Amino acid sequence: MTKTVNYGIIGCGMMGQEHLRNISLVPGARVAAIFEPDAGMAAAARVSAPEAVICDSLDALLAHEPLDCLVVAAPNHTHAEILARIAARRPLPLLMEKPLFTDPGDRDRVLAIGESYGAPLWVAMEYRYMPPLQTFLERMQDATGGIKMLTIREHRFPFLEKVGNWNRFNRNSGGTLVEKCCHFFDLMRFILQSEPVRVMASGGQVVNHLDEVYDGEPSDIWDSAYVIVDFASGARAMLELCMYAEGAQFQEEIAAVGPLGKIEAKVPGPGRFWPAHLGAAPLPQVIVSPRNPKGPQMVEIPVDPALLTAGDHNGSTFYQHHRFNAAVRGDGPVEVTLRDGERAVAMGMAAQTSAREGRAVEM
Ligand SMILES: NC(=O)c1ccc[n+]([C@@H]2O[C@H](COP(=O)([O-])OP(=O)(O)OC[C@H]3O[C@@H](n4cnc5c(N)ncnc54)[C@H](O)[C@@H]3O)[C@@H](O)[C@H]2O)c1
Repeated sequence: MTKTVNYGIIGCGMMGQEHLRNISLVPGARVAAIFEPDAGMAAAARVSAPEAVICDSLDALLAHEPLDCLVVAAPNHTHAEILARIAARRPLPLLMEKPLFTDPGDRDRVLAIGESYGAPLWVAMEYRYMPPLQTFLERMQDATGGIKMLTIREHRFPFLEKVGNWNRFNRNSGGTLVEKCCHFFDLMRFILQSEPVRVMASGGQVVNHLDEVYDGEPSDIWDSAYVIVDFASGARAMLELCMYAEGAQFQEEIAAVGPLGKIEAKVPGPGRFWPAHLGAAPLPQVIVSPRNPKGPQMVEIPVDPALLTAGDHNGSTFYQHHRFNAAVRGDGPVEVTLRDGERAVAMGMAAQTSAREGRAVEM
């Protein structure tokens, strides 16, 4: 093992603290500095990273020595500006939380920053790194003979409360189909290895948030949608999102079908939300169902309990950090590029537009 990699963390609310806990599990990684403007969140962050220096501004953090890399986990609408300030001041290797930007007007400047950044720039897409998804990715080609149809269903708990309620408004989050569904659009591109050509969606605010008002302004965030995406390869994908379904056994269910058969991955939600009186939380599953001979085969994919405790994303945050740490050291590639992050946002924005205007959107 070479030298310790020193991390600077920008934004340390729920997700930033998940990053802290996972960085502490990565060999040769250490959180050196944190910028978190909310006093309560800063105090909570200190518990997970007692040795880190708490800085009182982004500039102070960027001036801190030594730092080898950065993680941004501030609210969505701050991402583009924070990225621009880092690029101008100290372009260190960077793990940038999704979505890359929320205002379509920021797209070109974000892409231009990527062109000249000069250090690894990795967009956080944890779902790629969930252990059942890794098994799905390894087996999907043999199981299907080439995917023609891909369905991603997320049935989960409502949006959690955030600092300053930023996620209650589309102007801050980018809209539900950008904010959380950019993960699933990234997975579609990654699984199908093709680019989207057309997006059709229907969605809205149906059950949650209906009576929520903040400073006199009603929340406009959506809680459910269907999205269909046509890909250049001819494959079709569908997303089904429902955020009033936390009673479900599995949170994400991904199914792909091709001429030879079907493969599924089933991922439970965060273990901390599973009621203790029901016993152990469900284990992730991967199921392969050939057409001929018929005979579905299910394997369970247990995840290290220490990784489950460190976050809400089925251990994926740790695996992503492990690979990001290698990229920082120059021992591995950037696996989720700025272009990947931009495409995922563009698909989410197309889906928001499609649902709002009741029409198909060409990409
Ligand atoms: N990849 C994933 O699976 C995943 C999961 C959850 C959240 N996220 C992303 O992580 C980010 C943070 O989400 P969260 O759930 O932790 O929200 P949060 O509200 O819990 O935390 C955000 C924190 O950023 C701080 N902050 C606000 N403005 C800031 C600024 N200009 N600079 C630095 N910090 C600032 C806030 O005080 C807050 O503590 C969002 O972009 C969200 O989309 C990603």
